[in-house]
Amino acid sequence: MQESLKILPDFTDQAINDRLKFIRAVNAHHKNSFAEDVLTGLTSYPKTLQPKYFYDSHGSKLFEQICSTPEYYITRTESSILKKCSYQMAELNVDKQVIVELGSGSSVKTKYILDAFIKNGPVTYIPIDVSEILLDGGKKLIEDFEGLKVQGIIGEYEESIELVNDLISEPKLIIFLGSSIGNFDLTHAGSFLNHLSCNMHEDDTLLIGFDLVKDVNVLNAAYDDAGGVTAGFNLNLLSRINRELMADFDLSVFSHKAFFNKEESRVEMHLVSNCRQDVNVSSLGKVIHFEENETIHTENSYKFTDNIINELAANAGLKKIEKWKDEDNYFELCMMKK
Ligand code: AVI
Repeated sequence: MQESLKILPDFTDQAINDRLKFIRAVNAHHKNSFAEDVLTGLTSYPKTLQPKYFYDSHGSKLFEQICSTPEYYITRTESSILKKCSYQMAELNVDKQVIVELGSGSSVKTKYILDAFIKNGPVTYIPIDVSEILLDGGKKLIEDFEGLKVQGIIGEYEESIELVNDLISEPKLIIFLGSSIGNFDLTHAGSFLNHLSCNMHEDDTLLIGFDLVKDVNVLNAAYDDAGGVTAGFNLNLLSRINRELMADFDLSVFSHKAFFNKEESRVEMHLVSNCRQDVNVSSLGKVIHFEENETIHTENSYKFTDNIINELAANAGLKKIEKWKDEDNYFELCMMKK
């Protein structure tokens, strides 16, 4: 494998030591900026904000806290499957020494996978995330695993995976955990899987986590925990707009709302305006009007069935080679191949 990823012209180095390299992806696909997306979202009806903007540094920390709330079963369920089954996963991939993770966050769950794979030889781990939180995760991992090199990419998934595909010819395992695919609408999930599949070589495998449809009370509680962590995570979007776009959202007159929408098979998160009000967003030169009870739709989190998973995979030209579930059938991890 190439010694460093820094040779690619669209990427700039951020921090380097012997076993730890980070590069920041330039916006190669010319994605809209935060300001452009907020303007579009708050001037449409119904109002929306994209969930990728939850993850500023405070939002990323709040997400880590959500993962340890008693109600948010996703992280501990997926971790328990990985803890139990990562050796089987490694056995199916004895030819692989490169692991690429999309949306790695602080890479906590990844350690189960690394632990199993590193038994087969040294591993290069390439975490990809929009948040710099992957820096902390990478530092901890090289302390924990002697035979590990970390080459992180801070950037959007699409351009980062294209880069990896161009640079690395060895067989690789791509992992996409936490049911993050559930935060795309189904059409986007399909095109995203297709993009992944197009950037996979014949020998590559994809390990992907899907949160499954379950009891509505379990779902509602997971996205509205009693300690109010998820509410704080949702409201943090408004703090981010206040800070970065010089707005005057008063967080005390907005509330968090989350519920399972059965027809759409997704948990929706909204921010509700508790009164009729105007909010000034100075950097956009806009005053945004809210009616009482008007909402900003901030996130969808799709919940899957085996049929939907199979359909998504088939449409992307992927086939399941193995799957693992927990005892309660809450969560499924699938290994796929082209
Ligand atoms: C990152 N993603 C899979 C989480 C989810 O469950 O949809 C984000 C989240 N939103 C609220 N709680 C967690």
